[in-house]
Amino acid sequence: MRSSLLTGAIAAALSFSGYAAAADAEAWKSRSIYQVMIDRFARDDGGSVDCKLYEFCGGTWKGLTNKLDYIQGMGFDAIQISPVIKNEDKNTAVGEPYHGYWSQDLTQVNPKFGTEEDLKNLIDEIHKRDMFLMVDVVVNHMAQEFDNVVPPKVDYSVFKPFNDKKYFHPYCNVTEWENATNYQDCWLYPYGIALADLKTESPDVVSLFTKWIKNLVSTYSIDGLRIDAAKHVNDEFLPQFVQASGVFALGEVLTGVTEDMCRYQNKSKNLLPGMPNYLDYYPLNAAFNGGSFERLGEIRAQAQDSCNDTLALGTFIENHDMPRFASQNQDMALAKNAMTYVIMNDGIPTVYQGQEQHFTGGATPENREPLWTSSYNTSAPLYVLAQTLNKVRKNAIKQSPTYVKQTSNVLIADTNHFCQQKGPAENSVVFCVTNKSSKGDSYQMSVGGFRDSDEVVEVLSCATTTADGLGQITAYMGAGEPKVWVKKSALEGTDICTKTTVDGPKEENGAVSKGAATGVLMAAVLGTASLLL
Ligand SMILES: *[C@@H]1O[C@H](CO)[C@@H](O)[C@H](O)[C@H]1NC(C)=O
Ligand SMILES: *[C@@H]1O[C@H](CO)[C@@H](O)[C@H](O)[C@H]1NC(C)=O
Ligand SMILES: *[C@@H]1O[C@H](CO)[C@@H](O)[C@H](O)[C@H]1NC(C)=O
Ligand SMILES: *[C@@H]1O[C@H](CO)[C@@H](O)[C@H](O)[C@H]1NC(C)=O
Ligand SMILES: *[C@@H]1O[C@H](CO)[C@@H](O)[C@H](O)[C@H]1NC(C)=O
Ligand SMILES: *[C@@H]1O[C@H](CO)[C@@H](O)[C@H](O)[C@H]1NC(C)=O
Repeated sequence: MRSSLLTGAIAAALSFSGYAAAADAEAWKSRSIYQVMIDRFARDDGGSVDCKLYEFCGGTWKGLTNKLDYIQGMGFDAIQISPVIKNEDKNTAVGEPYHGYWSQDLTQVNPKFGTEEDLKNLIDEIHKRDMFLMVDVVVNHMAQEFDNVVPPKVDYSVFKPFNDKKYFHPYCNVTEWENATNYQDCWLYPYGIALADLKTESPDVVSLFTKWIKNLVSTYSIDGLRIDAAKHVNDEFLPQFVQASGVFALGEVLTGVTEDMCRYQNKSKNLLPGMPNYLDYYPLNAAFNGGSFERLGEIRAQAQDSCNDTLALGTFIENHDMPRFASQNQDMALAKNAMTYVIMNDGIPTVYQGQEQHFTGGATPENREPLWTSSYNTSAPLYVLAQTLNKVRKNAIKQSPTYVKQTSNVLIADTNHFCQQKGPAENSVVFCVTNKSSKGDSYQMSVGGFRDSDEVVEVLSCATTTADGLGQITAYMGAGEPKVWVKKSALEGTDICTKTTVDGPKEENGAVSKGAATGVLMAAVLGTASLLL
């Protein structure tokens, strides 16, 4: 009797998780996340429909289930989805809750996105593909329509399980964005919708949230959480909540200031295991928009010193809150460089749906275009690029699991280039991104990171080159294209660059470029080389 009960429990545990590895920070580090906004990803019928961006467009969990091939085909092995909880369902002065962030009843799933069965079915299908699921959760507030007369007249009895005024902070509007008491205890954005601010420091609220998240994670076999507005709840709440969930979490801390961000990943007392990497986001974005990569190099060095584990941060250049990368500049070469940084950087790559289709939407809700307008084109240049880069990253992890456990070395962070080396010396992966755009000139640049005589392949052009005695290779730059090099031997048995050519100078207007800059760069490198030899 005993043993069969035990066997039953083990069988249940196995079928519940679907795979052996626990979804902790270590397991997440080797993953690559594709962020889905459910209402905007795919409808049940997979069809296309016109809709207003402030209203529901009709995407569902079933729609996503039917289109998992599209995501897996790009090489992503984790999916982050919109919150799954039942929302306020009124059409307010700021639109409908198509995004899922207006929680009203934590005990029910959002009927707009499907049934409990649909959600379970989606997660089963995700797990069958050995992919992880990350669910977005809102802990800062509960939402109710608001007539814009302050203080808001909230009917607390409709909230579940927080059905009483005692679970909430009294109303005040967040006005002081540098004052933690103010932005943590007051109510965010009171217009059209009241975001009643939960008293997350109260033991009753902690206890109800603990019970809720344990139940949600186990009922749906969730592998990770994104915690919305984590910066707007009190510090102490976060580690308790993450621990209760039993899974990894990326908590949203919207700041570009190193100390403010790394405070959450304190070396002695972690508040959060990971955060979306807003530290890289701002200087990366700036480098492609009139700035330089020097600032990115600086902030990375600061983060390395102050954050406990930069490898558990999620690298991104787009998400549902920020204007699309291409809303500022539609140059395809720039978008390719940005995608390359996101997937090849330290940390967990996170690509927001539509980035691979070079969508151009600006501020919210323009950045929430339905994906079906792209016809889910798997030949789109950024789709194909993400596919190649995810393959290269996955292969690097397979060759050396330490690839995701060691931070990279920055080789170059100058006005126009950012180059880094990642992985153990015998299996180096090196990339260079540039902000020169598709109008960029052709030139040669010396890049290190390999070992004497390593034969390497630039995987985006499948061109080979051999490292010199200092482990340096010549990068044949042109048209602002990014470059990613790996050892040729690491690609054996993969379908990456099965045919290669020998790399060489790029033709420019029919002639081999011998720009002055090239001469200077090469001379500088040769100078170093002869000094060292
Ligand atoms: C809340 O504060 C913001 C400034 O942070 C202000 O623009 C807005 O009008 C205020 N709303 C209300 C309802 O007081
Ligand atoms: C910070 O905000 C709180 C809540 O609004 C307020 O009581 C307090 O006076 C503010 N502190 C400072 C230094 O302004
Ligand atoms: C980390 O936590 C310790 C102990 O609570 C504190 O002394 C230190 O200042 C914190 N570091 C940062 C960067 O916040
Ligand atoms: C710091 O990061 C390491 C590696 O992810 C982790 O094992 C450790 O628990 C973290 N430190 C704290 C204080 O959480
Ligand atoms: C690239 O960097 C240079 C030097 O900082 C800058 O002048 C240029 O505008 C940047 N390019 C783009 C497309 O932003
Ligand atoms: C898909 O993208 C490719 C590459 O940009 C393009 O040639 C093709 O026309 C697109 N197909 C559709 C159906 O839009």
